[in-house]
Amino acid sequence: MKDRLKKIMEEAMEQIEASQQLDKLNEIRVVFLGKKGELTSILKSMKDVDPKERPKVGQMVNEARSQIEEKLEAKRAVFERALREEKMKRETIDVTLPGRRPVVGHRHPNTITLEEVENIFIGMGYEVVEGPEIEYDYYNFEALNIPADHPAKDEQDTFYITKDILLRTQTSSVQVHEMEKGKLPIRMIAPGRVFRSDEVDATHSPTFHQIEGLVIDKNITFADLKGTLQEFAKRLFGEETKVKFRPHHFQFTEPSAEMDVSCFKCGGKGCRFCKGSGWVEILGCGMVHPHVLEMSGIDPEEYTGFAFGVGLERIALFKYEIDDMRLLYENDTRFLKQF
Ligand code: DAH
Repeated sequence: MKDRLKKIMEEAMEQIEASQQLDKLNEIRVVFLGKKGELTSILKSMKDVDPKERPKVGQMVNEARSQIEEKLEAKRAVFERALREEKMKRETIDVTLPGRRPVVGHRHPNTITLEEVENIFIGMGYEVVEGPEIEYDYYNFEALNIPADHPAKDEQDTFYITKDILLRTQTSSVQVHEMEKGKLPIRMIAPGRVFRSDEVDATHSPTFHQIEGLVIDKNITFADLKGTLQEFAKRLFGEETKVKFRPHHFQFTEPSAEMDVSCFKCGGKGCRFCKGSGWVEILGCGMVHPHVLEMSGIDPEEYTGFAFGVGLERIALFKYEIDDMRLLYENDTRFLKQF
C-alpha cells in the first residue's frame, strides 16, 4: 500500500511539473483526486487493510492528497501569473503616440439656409411657429380647400396612417392651426418636414422641408405679397436679384403665383444652374382663399392675407450649387464641412 501511494505521488508530481496549460491541471486533478481517481480507489480498498494499520494509512492518503493539492495550486498560480503578464504586455498603451482627433460635426446646409431664412423674416416682424408632422386629413387638405375626391389631392402622393390621419405633405397645414387660434393679425413662418411617397433621385426624396409663410391682417393686398417676397429674395440671394411672378394654381390661394428669382450664378444670362433660362423657381404663393379664411373662422370681408411656401432643400441646393439632393441626406462630413 505504501509503495503504491508513493508511486502515485511521484507520478502526480511529475505530471503536474510537466504540465503546460491550465486545462491540463484540471485533468490531472481528476485523475488523481477525483471520485474515480487513484487516491479515492486506495481509500476504497481500506477495508482490506489491517484495522490497526488503518489510521496510519488513512493519514498517509490524506497527506498525499494535500501535497498533490498544494502542488496543483502552486502550478496554477504560475500559469495565472504568466497569463496576466502576457495580457499586460498585449494591452500596453504607448502614451507617446499622437492622438486621434475626434471628428467634429458641422452645421448642415439645410440648417444654415433655414437660419438665414428665419432671420430675414424675424427681421420683418414674423413669428416662427411649428406644427405637427402627423396630421389630420382636415388640416392637410380639407381646411385648405382641397376636399375629398378633389384631383389636387392626387398631386401629393400621401402617406396615410389611417383614413383620416397622415404624414403632412405640406407645411400649409400649419396655416390652419395658426388661424384657428383666433389671434389676429398673423405674421408667421412655419418651417418643417413634409412627406410624400416619392422615389429617391437627384431632385426628389420621400421627406424634405418646407417653410410656410402666412400674413393675415386688414387691407393686405397682392402688393404686400410682392414687396415682401421681393425683399426676401434680395436678402437671401443678393441685392441685384430680380423676381418674377408667374400665374399658377393652388387650391388655398386666389390668385396664386409661382415666384422665380434671377439666377444669382449668371445674373440672368443663363447657365448650368438655371438650365439656361436665367431664372430659378423658388416658391409658390398667393392671396389666401376666402374659403380658407372662413373655414378657420376668419371673416374674409374684414381680413385678407397672403401665403407662400418655399422648399428649403431647393434653396440650399441652389445657393450652395449642389446638384444632387441625396448629398443633403447622407451626412458625410467630407461633404458637410465644405459649407
Ligand atoms: N403647399 C404648396 C406645396 O407644397 C406650396 C405653397 C403654395 C404654399 C402656395 C403656400 C402657397 O402657402 O400660398 O406645393
